[in-house]
Amino acid sequence: MRLILHVSLTIVAGLLVTSQATSVFPLASNSTDACTDIYNHMLEYSIHNYSASLKVSGELAYKCARSFPFESKRAVAFVEEVRKYVNLQSTLEILESPPADYPMPATDILGGLDDIQIKASASHYSNHYDFDLDLQRLFASAFDGHLSFTLCSTSFAAFLSDASLVSISSNGIALPEVYVKDDAYLKYTDEKVPVSKVVAINGVDIEEYLPNLTKTASSQDWDSLYNQAFYSDSLSINTNGLPGYSPGLVGQPGFWWPGAYQILQFENGTIRKYETYVNFQKFPWKNTREVYESGCLQDSPSSSTTASATSSTVPSESSSAAISSTPSATSLPAPNFYPKPFNKHSANKILGIFPDSGILKDTAVLIVPTFKVEQGPDIEQFAQVARDLLNKAAERKKQNLIIDLSGNGGGTVEAGKNLFKMIFPDQEVYSANRFRTSELTDIMTQISLVDSAENAKFYDYEWRTKVTPDQKEHFESLEEWYGPYNVFGINSSASMAENLTLVASELPMSGFGDQKLDPSKPAFAPEDIIMITDGYCASTCTIFARLMKMNGVRSIAFGGRPRNGPMQALGGVKGSQVLEVKVFSNRDLTYYAEKMEMNSTLFTIVQKDLWKRLAPPKLDEFSYKVSAGSVNQFNAFSSENNQLPLQFVYEAAECRRFYTYDNYIYQNSTWSSAYDAMFNGGECVPGSTNAPGSLFDARASSG
Ligand SMILES: *[C@@H]1O[C@H](CO)[C@@H](O)[C@H](O)[C@H]1NC(C)=O
Ligand SMILES: *[C@@H]1O[C@H](CO)[C@@H](O)[C@H](O)[C@H]1NC(C)=O
Ligand SMILES: *[C@@H]1O[C@H](CO)[C@@H](O)[C@H](O)[C@H]1NC(C)=O
Ligand SMILES: *[C@@H]1O[C@H](CO)[C@@H](O)[C@H](O)[C@H]1NC(C)=O
Ligand SMILES: *[C@@H]1O[C@H](CO)[C@@H](O)[C@H](O)[C@H]1NC(C)=O
Ligand SMILES: *[C@@H]1O[C@H](CO)[C@@H](O)[C@H](O)[C@H]1NC(C)=O
Ligand SMILES: *[C@@H]1O[C@H](CO)[C@@H](O)[C@H](O)[C@H]1NC(C)=O
Ligand SMILES: *[C@@H]1O[C@H](CO)[C@@H](O)[C@H](O)[C@H]1NC(C)=O
Repeated sequence: MRLILHVSLTIVAGLLVTSQATSVFPLASNSTDACTDIYNHMLEYSIHNYSASLKVSGELAYKCARSFPFESKRAVAFVEEVRKYVNLQSTLEILESPPADYPMPATDILGGLDDIQIKASASHYSNHYDFDLDLQRLFASAFDGHLSFTLCSTSFAAFLSDASLVSISSNGIALPEVYVKDDAYLKYTDEKVPVSKVVAINGVDIEEYLPNLTKTASSQDWDSLYNQAFYSDSLSINTNGLPGYSPGLVGQPGFWWPGAYQILQFENGTIRKYETYVNFQKFPWKNTREVYESGCLQDSPSSSTTASATSSTVPSESSSAAISSTPSATSLPAPNFYPKPFNKHSANKILGIFPDSGILKDTAVLIVPTFKVEQGPDIEQFAQVARDLLNKAAERKKQNLIIDLSGNGGGTVEAGKNLFKMIFPDQEVYSANRFRTSELTDIMTQISLVDSAENAKFYDYEWRTKVTPDQKEHFESLEEWYGPYNVFGINSSASMAENLTLVASELPMSGFGDQKLDPSKPAFAPEDIIMITDGYCASTCTIFARLMKMNGVRSIAFGGRPRNGPMQALGGVKGSQVLEVKVFSNRDLTYYAEKMEMNSTLFTIVQKDLWKRLAPPKLDEFSYKVSAGSVNQFNAFSSENNQLPLQFVYEAAECRRFYTYDNYIYQNSTWSSAYDAMFNGGECVPGSTNAPGSLFDARASSG
């Protein structure tokens, strides 16, 4: 339904509580080059050292980006380079015809690349931005947080506005309504102030606008996507270690141009206009050509200064066996959005809390906003916080454990497996994974064979050290391991796992290798543990949560679209390993290229040619600058079905609640609501229990 905006109503600009500087750069310009206008604007304000000088009109930045020249030949080559990585994406065939349970539309990624390449060669694009945006639309159509490329023109400007919305239910069960966050504050703290819900944006009914907006995000579940429209402290802690910086996709649409304004229409007839802007930290480019050359071209003389917008979009998650080491992050205070923690990671990557009052007084809470930890002290500290909390909980005879995974987009797989092992020391760490085989994986497999198994053990296409999902067996032959097996139309490897004993020589892994099993006994029974999510849980978060579910631990999902019925707790990608272009090109490509070179006589001309033709470019070898990119390398499978990748299995949470205002503001009220629903006979949203794919699936029990 489209609502007609009554233009006669007062359009109130600059009425925003959150907006400090009301004057975004005026659009009237003297030059024909929008990028020059930005340059002049920045220059003018930096001379005056005006504090708001970083804010630039979104429309001007959009115009500047859309004036980047389009070079057909270079673009055609670029698509070919991207395709070499996309060939390693594990879900290509199944995305073309997904099973009925998969809630998202089908998509043909390779076919889409063909189309874009044809359009590029026919110079269908009038500017480089439109070309990049077509690629972004294609990647987004996979709804896979592991499939993404940061392209030069779409990363030039991150669009922002001061609009931040929340979706609030009066009691957690009644259907929620959309409010501007600051209005909600007034509504729930001062009854006398009249506030009204949001009914439309830019003339489009809010319940049509938000799903349309959020389908650019990367979850594979409509309720999880819907939640990303809104303010979230959890998501902010995931990204920044602190609450307060995640306004939701309405206020932070990233490169998805929302129009020069988002005009909010309230139920009481009021209209409020939010201007789209961009924050630039610096802008040393005098015209479009300079911006384009420095931002997009590899060999540009000024390429050391890349365009940098200060605000990023919603973070994408990653999960890789991080066998790389960077220094641990600095120490941050505990987020005020939680009660005082018992112990915590210095950068708030994990926190333990023993709430001392009310319904939660016999409960321990483990908050895990991320698994993004680096090898070394960082991941060790992460493990130590969990270990101490669990051991102390047993000592204090706590009854229940709540694990809050809100906003958790994943990270290092081993950190998730180790956390599971600390909670269930007596259970196996089951892990079934397959990659998509192709001519490129054929040749990488052959190359790694010239090295010793010991040297090659951490490379993905080395078979001798991989083990079966239960860790019990190794593979008898290359053929047994590699296949290819036809798995839902995808040529795939056998289902396999990393040998955790080998992993334990590099990373904390309780009870493996030389590492002591600690805790040695489970502190809680499965029925006394619950997991809380906002549906965002992706990647390593889903690996951890799946292991927990396999052992009978229930989940409760919060939020989602304003309708009754179930919601998935794990709305993000369930792929078990991301291939990051940066890591792959620094480490793996270098390795394979060196082995090929050094042991040249061992390879045939055909193999050498194949490698030359198929090896993807390194990050700095693309025809355009790419600052990051990744594909989903491994599919993951449950222990009951080693054919259907988990991304395509619908799994409702055991219960769902909507957010109340308190739930948004005090995270311990979310824990109380969850406790009440899961341990205390409290209510779940109608139709949200015994739902498909949950532990108590009514379909299964009725036969
Ligand atoms: C346009 O020119 C006028 C008069 O020369 C000047 O005051 C104004 O700052 C210029 N605007 C821009 C965006 O350069
Ligand atoms: C600009 O203003 C800030 C804040 O008042 C001040 O700290 C900074 O030194 C100023 N910079 C220049 C170049 O004057
Ligand atoms: C209508 O709702 C808006 C948004 O909550 C509020 O700011 C405004 O004060 C309300 N106006 C009246 C007349 O109640
Ligand atoms: C949905 O979003 C697209 C851009 O992603 C936009 O072109 C279209 O107008 C939107 N439709 C509605 C109904 O908002
Ligand atoms: C949340 O924690 C605060 C102390 O930090 C406490 O005052 C409040 O009662 C708690 N709320 C709930 C619902 O547990
Ligand atoms: C895993 O690695 C360890 C250490 O090398 C080895 O002893 C063990 O046999 C391996 N597991 C399997 C199932 O091959
Ligand atoms: C799958 O593998 C088989 C056997 O190697 C091969 O013949 C077939 O062409 C492959 N299919 C695809 C789609 O790559
Ligand atoms: C491959 O090259 C390396 C380095 O020169 C060498 O140590 C190794 O023995 C070679 N492998 C074979 C199988 O020749």
